Amino acid sequence: MKAIELREKYLNFFKSKGHTIIPSSSLIPENDPSVLFTTAGMHPLVPYLLGEAHPGGKRLTDYQKCLRTDDIEEVGDTGHLTYFEMMGNWSLGDYFKQESINMSYEFLTKELGIPSEKISVTCFEGDKDCPRDSEAAEIWEKVGIPKERIYFFGKKENWWGPAGTHGPCGPDTEIFYDTGKEKCSDNCNPACNCGKYLEIWNNVFMQYNKTEDGKYEELKQKNVDTGLGLERTTMILQGKENVFEIEIFKPIIDKLDSLALNKNNESYRIIADHLRASIMLILDGVKPSNIEQGYILRRLVRRVIRHLRKLGIDTNELRNIAKLNIDTIKNMYPELEKKQNEILNTLEEEKNKFIKTLENGEKEFEKAINKAKQEGKDVIDASTVFKLYETYGFPTEITEELAKEQGFKINNEEVEKLYKEHQEKSRVGAEQKFKGGLAERNEETICYHTATHLLHKALRIVLGDHVAQKGSNITTERLRFDFSHPQKVTPEELKKVEDIVNEQIQRDLPVVCEEMTLEEAKKSGAIGLFENKYGERVKVYTIGDFSKEICGGPHVEHTAQLGKFVIKKEEASSAGVRRIKAILIR
Ligand code: ALA
Repeated sequence: MKAIELREKYLNFFKSKGHTIIPSSSLIPENDPSVLFTTAGMHPLVPYLLGEAHPGGKRLTDYQKCLRTDDIEEVGDTGHLTYFEMMGNWSLGDYFKQESINMSYEFLTKELGIPSEKISVTCFEGDKDCPRDSEAAEIWEKVGIPKERIYFFGKKENWWGPAGTHGPCGPDTEIFYDTGKEKCSDNCNPACNCGKYLEIWNNVFMQYNKTEDGKYEELKQKNVDTGLGLERTTMILQGKENVFEIEIFKPIIDKLDSLALNKNNESYRIIADHLRASIMLILDGVKPSNIEQGYILRRLVRRVIRHLRKLGIDTNELRNIAKLNIDTIKNMYPELEKKQNEILNTLEEEKNKFIKTLENGEKEFEKAINKAKQEGKDVIDASTVFKLYETYGFPTEITEELAKEQGFKINNEEVEKLYKEHQEKSRVGAEQKFKGGLAERNEETICYHTATHLLHKALRIVLGDHVAQKGSNITTERLRFDFSHPQKVTPEELKKVEDIVNEQIQRDLPVVCEEMTLEEAKKSGAIGLFENKYGERVKVYTIGDFSKEICGGPHVEHTAQLGKFVIKKEEASSAGVRRIKAILIR
């Protein structure tokens, strides 16, 4: 069975059980700035798991495009993927354990024909937050899984969620396929990583909400959230031991093998995985950049190029290989067809950017290796790793890989320290999120912050001094500014405002920060919200001779960093308050 057939079978099966098929959401979460990517099918459904009514009803099913970057170092073995598809079925306060387990078992054994003897399951053993899930275990026994293939584990294995720091979660029961390999030891069980047992499906009984202070509250509705890995299950159904053998990857792997001067399975797999992930990210609107999702995309593409070179494949082949990749998966994602050129061009541009710097970077790298050799060290200087990153755009893991190939290491802690010292907030922020943490600020939002000051002043010049800030909201993509003004701002006025802001950007004005008392700030003519919340001493940011505003910062150092300012929209926000949305093109 091919992946696309498994997908269809899954959706139709759950449709026949009263589920509404809903479309996959974007890889970029819409309303959740705390995570970079959609990592599970439940992600876009959080509000409904918490109790909001879903227009599709209480039983839903879908396939969800997901990207997980926490296992990126593992890609290259036989099973790990960054991009993957998660099939899911949900009960929003409708059925619970009994029906969920019955349906999973029926689907696996009847629809997919997996022999019952091949199935082992795990259940939650219980702890202070939630009792042992004997109920799930009893249901499994009733459907025909004998006690010896029902295992109990703690939170580490049998608890899922919340996806971020708080939200819906609960005990789960996981379904494993026994590959028939020998047990690695007498204690070998589904929690073991030896490869005997492969997890294919996870049924989460979401009955808790983890609060921000770490408590588990009962949800008002009991939900079921499940996730079945499409690629991995396809691999099992095809009797393959390696996920890269299935039709989604095989043509790419074969093509790479035919082109490679230096054969290397690990590189084939990294390229096949990262290229598909990059294509899917570009499809969902991500562009390579130095921040957030764009930086992850950049890293994925650059790693592809690195491995092409390692294989001795001309990097000009990237376009052909990517085209082949699109052709291979476009039956699963027909929308790829329309965006094909944009995707290929984006990859090509990023390749050109990287190649330009790569050669110089490699020279720098060789120098560092020679120096380390002379000094009898097996560690590359942290400062070189940083320089390669800063000047040549080498993602750290590329330097690490290059080093490893020659028997050298890098000291991640020291490198991290250097990044911090240099306050590379944007990229480091992305690095941290890449590892699952959160970035607070980045280059993009800092630029928008400064642009907001310019906009505020420009509005006062064009519309008058009655203009005062009523609200501001900044994302990495745009700024939103609410201000007092009684009527619609005309297109001519908007144009004037835009021109003034761009003029100040072009003048490359310095941005200077001073601390003073609120009184002094007022006297100096600074605008801003003179509310007590600022405390006694305030920061005043002065942009050349143009603007002076009380603000916590941070801001750019020079206005030319902002690029081009474009107003996208002007609308009413509330009575007497207008709203402008604007972007920077950098
Ligand atoms: N949300 C569950 C998972 O990702 C189904 O495994």
